[in-house]
Parts: sequence; structure tokens; C-alpha cells
Amino acid sequence: MQLDVFTLVPHAFAWLTEQRPVATVLGKELDLRLFSYRDTTPLRAGQVDDEPYGGGAGMVLRVDVVAAALDAVYGGVPDHRVVALTPQGRQLTQANVEELAAEPRLTLLSARFEGFDERIVQHLASDAISIGPYVLSDGGLPAMVLVDAIARRLPGAIRAESGAFESFSPELEGQLEYPHYTRPPDFNGWTVPEILLSGDHGKIDAWRRERSRERSVH
Ligand SMILES: C[S@@+](CC[C@H](N)C(=O)[O-])C[C@H]1O[C@@H](n2cnc3c(N)ncnc32)[C@H](O)[C@@H]1O
Repeated sequence: MQLDVFTLVPHAFAWLTEQRPVATVLGKELDLRLFSYRDTTPLRAGQVDDEPYGGGAGMVLRVDVVAAALDAVYGGVPDHRVVALTPQGRQLTQANVEELAAEPRLTLLSARFEGFDERIVQHLASDAISIGPYVLSDGGLPAMVLVDAIARRLPGAIRAESGAFESFSPELEGQLEYPHYTRPPDFNGWTVPEILLSGDHGKIDAWRRERSRERSVH
């Protein structure tokens, strides 16, 4: 998959690209490219945003700056999916992640301060996604959230088994994952459920499914 991220903080992705599972698939299943709006801005002194028409606080990412960035990389608005990261977008779910991870090419646009000039969302992006009902200061973190969530769904990123039985997966009928325990079996009198030490995989599986159902009831 070719995943392109347009951001004002490309350097911030250095940590993410060294971590598994992103590091595992990088250069193989994942071709991650980071672009800074500043490198292609048609404005002087690296300017990328401007004051909002109508007044008000903050700065708005300019449409001509984003158009120039897309032009430089694709020669215009690309045919593939372009996702604007904004709190006003549809809220990200695991189902959306699966859908995005199946795309051969994907572009993420992030903003900062007051966000995008609305024409970016309307004319340059084909989709708008929020990572949750709260506001972060910059789209760098939301973009990294998506890169990580997508990377772990690519072939070879994680062991197939651990990727299958996860919260929200079809294997768990979209429910939350069951609780995990490891050594020691008793810590401060806090014991591990007996059944997990029994070696009876049929019973363990049934117990886990029951716990999964229980914790998914809101
Ligand atoms: C301070 S936010 C802009 C908030 C915007 N003025 C509003 O009230 O909806 C700056 C940028 O961070 C990113 N961002 C912040 N929170 C986000 C979220 N929950 N989901 C996706 N992107 C987010 C977006 O790229 C956004 O344009």
C-alpha cells in the first residue's frame, strides 16, 4: 500500500516508523511517504495558513497551499482516496480502518490551528475522518493514529492469530476482547482465573467468549 501523509510535522513520524508494526511492514507492504506543505507552498517564507475571512481567532490552512502540495506529488487531485483529518469528519471505527487498509493508495491531509479552509475538504479531499469526539492541536497525531491502525492490518504486520482475535474483530463478533493474564499466577492474592491454567482449550475458549460478551454490554 502506498500511504502518503501531508503534514506540518513530518519529523514527528520518526518515532512511529521505528516502532512495530509500522517498522515491520515499512518498505514491504507499506510505502509511507511524508510530505510537508512547507516544501511546496507557493507563498513566501514557508507560509501555509492565513487569517479567517469574517474574523475570529486562529489561522486557517490555505486551499492554494494544499492544492500546490497535491500538484507537486500527483500533478493534481489524485484519483485515489484523499482523507482530510478533522474533528468534523465521520468518526473512525475499526470497520473504517479495515476499509482504508484495503486501498492500494491512500492520502491523508492534516491541518493545525483552526483547521482547513473548507474548500480543501469539499474539493481536494474525498473523505473526512475524525479520530474521536475531541480536539487535538495538530493533525500529526491523528495521521499517526491512522498510519498505525492501518499498518497493523497489512499482511505480515502482526501474527495473524493476534490480529484476528482483537477487540471489534469479526472473530469476536465486533465485541471487546476478553481479559488476558500472564505470570505470576498469584500476585498479592490476586489470582488468575483457574480455567486459564486448566489446559482445557474448549473451556478456555468458551470462557473467553463469555467474558468478551460481558464486557461489551454497555
Ligand atoms: C485545533 S484542530 C481544529 C479544530 C477545528 N477548529 C474545529 O473546531 O473543529 C487542528 C487540526 O488538528 C487535527 N485534528 C484535531 N482533532 C482531530 C480529531 N479529533 N480527528 C482528526 N483530526 C483532528 C485536524 O487536522 C485539525 O484541522
